[in-house]
Amino acid sequence: PKDQEDELSDECKKLLSTLPKERGWSVSHIYNYQGFWAKPRVIQGVIACQQQFQAQDSDIILVTNPKSGTTWLKALLFALVNRVKYPIFEQNHPLLIKNPHDLVPFLELTLYVDGQVPDFSSFTTPRLLSTHLPFASLPKSIQDSNTKLVYLCRNSRDTFISTWHFINNLNLEHKNTNSIGRAFDLFCNGISPYGPFWNHVLDYWKASIEKPNKVIFLMYEEIKEQPKIQIKRLAEFLECPFSEKEENCGVVDEILRMCSFENLSNLEVNINGKLSSGHENKVFFRKGKVGDWKNYFTTEMKEKLNHINEQKFEGSGLKF
Ligand code: A3P
Repeated sequence: PKDQEDELSDECKKLLSTLPKERGWSVSHIYNYQGFWAKPRVIQGVIACQQQFQAQDSDIILVTNPKSGTTWLKALLFALVNRVKYPIFEQNHPLLIKNPHDLVPFLELTLYVDGQVPDFSSFTTPRLLSTHLPFASLPKSIQDSNTKLVYLCRNSRDTFISTWHFINNLNLEHKNTNSIGRAFDLFCNGISPYGPFWNHVLDYWKASIEKPNKVIFLMYEEIKEQPKIQIKRLAEFLECPFSEKEENCGVVDEILRMCSFENLSNLEVNINGKLSSGHENKVFFRKGKVGDWKNYFTTEMKEKLNHINEQKFEGSGLKF
């Protein structure tokens, strides 16, 4: 995958020179733009989509902190929303031949990356899109329209571990320099992709309380624990609830089975395929479990993160 600073526009280079900068988890630098941390190429994509993206009332936008289960929720959303157009029991369902990231593209990372002008003409309604942007940095047209936002949150410990593995995977040659201790300290200090992690979560949590028809707040762990309840909640929020007939025919169960880690990660396209960005599809499937952090955290790390979670989420009603 591309990751060079020299391909940036002059406007973006100029902006970067004014922003706070830190060495990120890998070798490259990350910059603080509008209060969150991102790589130069991402910031350029963010600015383009902030300036150009025109939301439609019918749009559905999935938002996550990176490594919170975006791939899974893209698949669930796609299957759910398109279940009339693409009946879930059909053999040539798009999810069986394409990676979820190709079906629900990222705004700043795919559609508006590298100065591209996206072509939305092939999209059907509702358009399914995604972003990692914090609430305050969403393109204005998303805030001002009836666009629905589906936020997926994952506990900070597993998100951290998943991010650490992902970054190591993308930077194999630097794997040994990205020690877990250093990455953990950066994460705790808010320096993580699109971080601080806690601000991201809290802003969407608050928005979901203030505007329950616009923002739904889902949790990875809750979907794992009670998948049927959570996907029905999502369907109701999106105003496409399951009918009794669908439930009796097993449509809900089949969507969950189709989008399960076991099913998706074993598809040919996700074992050998690649995204247009150059990422191998398989990097988005690692373990797909709750609690893998236990295999990596020292007692000290556990206590430190518990403490930060308590401090940051105190009084919000959010529990981790
Ligand atoms: P782990 O690294 O803990 O395994 P994202 O999609 O936001 O990049 O997040 C990736 C994480 O979601 C990885 O977590 C990945 O294994 C997990 N994941 C991918 N597909 C999944 C699925 N269908 N069900 C549950 N988890 C999934």
